[in-house]
Amino acid sequence: MPQPYPPATGLTRRFVSITHFDETNSLEKERAMAGRIAVVGGSSGIGEAIAGRLARQGLEVVIGGRGEERLHNARERLGGRVRAEVIDAGDAASVERFFERVGPLEHLVICLSGRKGAGPFATLSLEAVGEGFQEKVLPQLRTAQVGLKRLAESGSITFITAASARMVAPGAAGLAAINGALEAMVPTLAVELAPRRINAVSPGVIDTPWWNDVPGDIKTHYFEQSRATLPARRIGKPEDVAAAVELLVGNTFMTGTVLEVDGGARLV
Ligand SMILES: NC(=O)c1ccc[n+]([C@@H]2O[C@H](COP(=O)([O-])OP(=O)(O)OC[C@H]3O[C@@H](n4cnc5c(N)ncnc54)[C@H](OP(=O)(O)O)[C@@H]3O)[C@@H](O)[C@H]2O)c1
Repeated sequence: MPQPYPPATGLTRRFVSITHFDETNSLEKERAMAGRIAVVGGSSGIGEAIAGRLARQGLEVVIGGRGEERLHNARERLGGRVRAEVIDAGDAASVERFFERVGPLEHLVICLSGRKGAGPFATLSLEAVGEGFQEKVLPQLRTAQVGLKRLAESGSITFITAASARMVAPGAAGLAAINGALEAMVPTLAVELAPRRINAVSPGVIDTPWWNDVPGDIKTHYFEQSRATLPARRIGKPEDVAAAVELLVGNTFMTGTVLEVDGGARLV
């Protein structure tokens, strides 16, 4: 006699519960991937890739940066629902104005870069390390602190740090201090600011316009060396980092996490 339903074996029960889990998870992701997101540092490189990827997911994206022309060009490339607003995250008043113009937020990604703080430790300029903190750490924190006032409780903040925080790389101790400072704060902020989720993505060497200011031969040599030694045997692309940001924004069970997207740089 045919049975109306498959027998409830352990395997079936397991399948049904996995299916249910997948549906619940995709609903959670759908809920997270709605509303407005600001990407500070979204007018170039990694930030622009993040903005594009999240806009394609249906989020309403606002990109921020200092240079108006850079913002305008990025907005043209991104098209769609992307809005652009000026922000200098080094200037408290500019950060306040930015968030006033942006309005209520579901998510915030802080992707602005610095340049200073690299060099052999014996001769490293501590002023340059201090400037590195002024360029990257304080502006990222200021952006998070002011943005928090507009951030939904169900929302998230994602910092973009750098693999130098945990790489063993002679000449990068100053960068380790700068990016390590940001990464060290992530778990504490995740608890202090809960239920908002706080995460970071820590990129390795990624081919972006940031490298345009590095003299050509140094860039070429560094990229060649990285390709040869990285376990991934390639240089990263902005999209590699954007995919990790999408995961952190959309997965509502991830908080206090620093995701490394470095081709294995911290291992060699
Ligand atoms: N590329 C890599 O190899 C690499 C490696 C490790 C970590 N990272 C990190 O990844 C993040 C993005 O780097 P990227 O390579 O994409 O750099 P990028 O192409 O130079 O882009 C940096 C973005 O930040 C904006 N910005 C810089 N200072 C700002 C400020 N004070 N206020 C507001 N916006 C500011 C820039 O626009 P304006 O200049 O017009 O303001 C631009 O939109 C940075 O945190 C960087 O440290 C990059």
